[in-house]
Amino acid sequence: MSVLLTGAAGFIGYHVAEALLARGETVLGVDNLTPYYDPALKQARLDRLLRHERFRFERLDLADQAGVLRVADDNPGIDRIVHLAAQAGVRHSMVDPHAYVSSNVMGHLCVLELARRMGQELRHLVYASSSSVYGGNESLPFSEADRVDRPLSLYAATKRADELMSHAYAHLYGVRQTGLRFFTVYGPWGRPDMAYYSFAEAILAGREITVYDDGMVRRDFTYVDDIVHGVVGALDHPPSHPADGGPPVRVLNIGNNRSEPISAVIALLEQGLGHKAVIRYTARPVADVADTCANVDQIADLTGFAPSTPLAVGMPKFIAWFRAWKGINTLPDASA
Ligand SMILES: NC(=O)c1ccc[n+]([C@@H]2O[C@H](COP(=O)([O-])OP(=O)(O)OC[C@H]3O[C@@H](n4cnc5c(N)ncnc54)[C@H](O)[C@@H]3O)[C@@H](O)[C@H]2O)c1
Repeated sequence: MSVLLTGAAGFIGYHVAEALLARGETVLGVDNLTPYYDPALKQARLDRLLRHERFRFERLDLADQAGVLRVADDNPGIDRIVHLAAQAGVRHSMVDPHAYVSSNVMGHLCVLELARRMGQELRHLVYASSSSVYGGNESLPFSEADRVDRPLSLYAATKRADELMSHAYAHLYGVRQTGLRFFTVYGPWGRPDMAYYSFAEAILAGREITVYDDGMVRRDFTYVDDIVHGVVGALDHPPSHPADGGPPVRVLNIGNNRSEPISAVIALLEQGLGHKAVIRYTARPVADVADTCANVDQIADLTGFAPSTPLAVGMPKFIAWFRAWKGINTLPDASA
């Protein structure tokens, strides 16, 4: 039996693949290696996965329904799907909105259609949603029961659309699913478009960074190893039909349950890279939310999820990887 993993060349997908392979699973990874950020980083992640005998890879656009069905036909034995492929990034959805609907809405539909066709062969479909579905929600921490009908970006709207489409497929066809609302994931092999990574690059190069609202924008930064535990734990606990006869589907927050200001990230980057940041402060863009924090009681109860990596531990691990990736082997100069 094997796992179909979409977005395998992506940041979270790469780490989930490593974890599944480490526990003896066979993994079929798919990804279309979009050039949204440096494809060399995606290829480097993939090259590491391809060293495993039990990992196979197909380059595929998930919006291609015939291609998705063909890949499943060519690789019998799939009994679970972890669907992480997406066009990520909140602000970029103002630049290239069509990419979001193609990858996140059409791509999700094609995965759902595959799941529908697989019927009882499919034990569980776990897919990525996002904390952005909470929009401007001000009641912290965000709980799964909170309103999610006021997205602040098209990206958030596509992720909410995924949750709604998944609910319909669970109701109509009994596809057992868990949607995971990720909260700002960071760590080694991370995404260059995310603030912590782009700040690291700018600080090293002595370039100015733009920081919103005096560095007081807050995020529930979640270390990638904690996320991986949650994804794999969720995969191992498919929902059954609830007692009320409802569909076998749920959405769960997956975060660190601790909101921290971006100024704390900058301080850790300065320390780890040995350079002071040159900061320009400005107002927060309209697509960005002020604060996020996950209530993780539900995923904790269902899977034993217990995030254990504070920012002060996880960010130095990112920096160590970042230095190696950039070929910087010298120790940071504390006086710089
Ligand atoms: N990293 C975070 O903080 C975060 C937060 C909330 C939600 N998420 C969600 O988690 C998932 C994984 O995110 P990530 O940080 O690893 O992003 P990522 O961009 O590193 O990985 C996504 C991968 O999907 C691939 N992809 C995009 N469109 C595709 C398509 N049409 N067909 C096939 N492959 C396609 C990309 O090439 C990429 O490798 C995404 O669904 C994202 O929206 C991530």
